[in-house]
Amino acid sequence: MVASATGGRLRERIDAVRSHPDLPARPIYLDHNATTPVDPRVVEAMLPALRADFANPSSSHALATGPARMVATARTQVAALIGADADEVVFTGSGSEADALAIRGAVLAAATPGVRPHVVTQATEHPAVLAAVEELRAVHDATVSVVGVDGRGRVDPAQVAEAITDATVLVSVMHANNETGTLQPIAEIAQAAHDRGVLVHTDAAQSVGKVPVDVRELGVDLLTLVGHKMYAPKGIAALYVRRGVGLHPLIGGGGQERGLRAGTENVPYIAALGAAAAIAARALADDEPTRLTTLRDRLVERLSARLAGRVHLHGHPTERLPGAANLHIDDTIGHLLLDATPDVAASTGSACHSGNHTPSPVLTAMGLDPSAAMATVRLSVGRWTTKADVDAAADLLAAGALT
Ligand SMILES: Cc1ncc(COP(=O)(O)O)c(C=O)c1O
Repeated sequence: MVASATGGRLRERIDAVRSHPDLPARPIYLDHNATTPVDPRVVEAMLPALRADFANPSSSHALATGPARMVATARTQVAALIGADADEVVFTGSGSEADALAIRGAVLAAATPGVRPHVVTQATEHPAVLAAVEELRAVHDATVSVVGVDGRGRVDPAQVAEAITDATVLVSVMHANNETGTLQPIAEIAQAAHDRGVLVHTDAAQSVGKVPVDVRELGVDLLTLVGHKMYAPKGIAALYVRRGVGLHPLIGGGGQERGLRAGTENVPYIAALGAAAAIAARALADDEPTRLTTLRDRLVERLSARLAGRVHLHGHPTERLPGAANLHIDDTIGHLLLDATPDVAASTGSACHSGNHTPSPVLTAMGLDPSAAMATVRLSVGRWTTKADVDAAADLLAAGALT
């Protein structure tokens, strides 16, 4: 019994690492922080809802039983991955929507008439969080404090505590940064906020599934997780809402998701997110973070060896997502380096608007000078990345930087 369970797990891990039917050999995919390929097991899990289990899960006839069960199972699977209860999980159509529901929803629900609500966030948040906070400021008369980060991209919980006022309703600080992978000290921040009776949201889009995340250990009231960062399709996400936390819905209508998010449930994608959560839980138990950390470090070390003294890593050296390497190479420009290395699919540290490249606000907030930020590339490994991939990618990037 034990032997066969172990054998099954091992086989699953080998399958997971060795084969993805649709991932090409070239370009080598090192952009997992942008999005992940959909796991073939996730595709399998969603297919019944595109076929026989097509009915509306809210219908009262027999055909609704299957879809309703799929949604309930997925809710349990997502809850299990983050240490929540199933009734604390609200499915949304994207991470951006989950962030907006958490931030606007919590502040609008908690606002006291005549008192301008105050929100605390930090400089390297994803645009989805910054936009939700800005909307509160511009449209709902909220005041906002944006706490800075240190050179490694970390927020000091003491600075969050100092920013809290009697009018503060919500603190929103991301768990892991999408560019550098730096992890924030969320448990300490949550403690500081709760000491003042303030709600805490964390955008854990990048961390859930990649590192163990437990909402009770973090002590947060609201947490965003995103399907397409954990091998489910784009267009599905979830918000953890701690039991007892009131939210003002963004979308009203049919009362789905406990009245917090109207709209007939996207059963195939919800099933996909549930399956992705269950697979992620097994991968975490199988020590996948260590495998990814080893691959990521091998990539950086090989690149550094080829380009002696020219490679500079950004973000926190240890408090960082396992798969993430954000770095710059002296005397290069990130987007030109990637243009010259088409066999590597990765991202830069700059944003491109109509052909103009500007340094990333995340790197700028960390104090990087503009030329270092413009030289930055973001390399992120994932479930099907192999040693051969990272060795080849390091050699290709080094060759590009030497020409
Ligand atoms: C940290 C973070 N938050 C939120 C999002 C937004 O998720 P979505 O693309 O599903 O709206 C992303 C995706 O890039 C992200 O990395």
